[in-house]
Amino acid sequence: HPRVWMGLLLWSVLSQAQAAWTVNMTPGATEVSRTVFDLHMTIFWICVVIGVIVFGAMFWSMIIHRRSTGQQPAHFHESTTVEILWTVVPFVILVLMAIPATKTLIDIYDTSESGLDVQITGYQWKWHYKYLGQDVEFFSNLATPSEQIHNKAPKDEHYLLEVDQPLVVPVGTKVRFLITAADVIHSWWVPALAVKKDAIPGFVNESWTRIEKPGLYRGQCTELCGKDHGFMPIVVEAKSQEDFAKWLAARKEETAKLKELTDKEWTLDELVARGDKVYHTSCAACHQPEGQGMPPMFPALKGSKIATGPKADHLNIVFHGKPGTSMAAFGKQLSEVDIAAVITYERNAWGNNTGDMVTPKE
Ligand code: CUA
Repeated sequence: HPRVWMGLLLWSVLSQAQAAWTVNMTPGATEVSRTVFDLHMTIFWICVVIGVIVFGAMFWSMIIHRRSTGQQPAHFHESTTVEILWTVVPFVILVLMAIPATKTLIDIYDTSESGLDVQITGYQWKWHYKYLGQDVEFFSNLATPSEQIHNKAPKDEHYLLEVDQPLVVPVGTKVRFLITAADVIHSWWVPALAVKKDAIPGFVNESWTRIEKPGLYRGQCTELCGKDHGFMPIVVEAKSQEDFAKWLAARKEETAKLKELTDKEWTLDELVARGDKVYHTSCAACHQPEGQGMPPMFPALKGSKIATGPKADHLNIVFHGKPGTSMAAFGKQLSEVDIAAVITYERNAWGNNTGDMVTPKE
């Protein structure tokens, strides 16, 4: 029958379109995400069946039955049987759908017995991850992605979804997330994990996941949070338990070293001496050993506005680079101690000996 064939054709086109565009939810990478996906599909098909029965009966009565018999619709005012039926049947269907949904919700809210606790804080426009009780914390992005846009070639679009440092978690471990925000409301969403929680200042939302396979899982901020809301990517990297332990140990060591340097009471001379080394390793190639530069390509730093003007401008250029020039952002390449050191060095070597010091904590 042609109508059957048309239906089948439409069905095949639609199902292929949905596969190509991934219009549907993802089954995800965890037990919870698969349960959520199955629930979604079950409820979807229940709705399809109800829709087919209700609209089918309606159109059949209105068109086919009426045309073939010529009968007028029956006129009656009330019917206890019909009223009981249309109350009880939907009630039973709703209860049947609510039972597995409630079970899943209870599961999602049960954050007890976690193997790792991570505090996630939303900032305009990056994420901060803190491994509770582990003394490890970092930002997902050093410069916000919109700041990076100005420092990168416009053709390279994938960096918009990249982070400097993903959230690293072990597989096969229940990881509890404590989600909050420092400025406005954000939302932490990773579809493959079926985790989506608002990050609200002054309030902690909880969630959890247990990832089965190592890999990268991507997400985005999903609460309109200001001009760069669209550039607040999330990357979760799941590592095997051994690899995670190694990563955590390395990260702890790095944090401890950095903390020691940051907490140190630097004297001006010490910081200038360190900055001297950093300058000659990272800056001298373009700006020359004595800060004389190679104008017009590489400006001289000696006696320049940069070395004598506000410290904040100077810091900003070293941190974020300079748009439209080959001055790279050193915010990722140098530690904050080294940035403080090199700026202190430049200001004191070529800023008319200002005795000006940038502390690592600035
Ligand atoms: Cu943060 Cu949208």
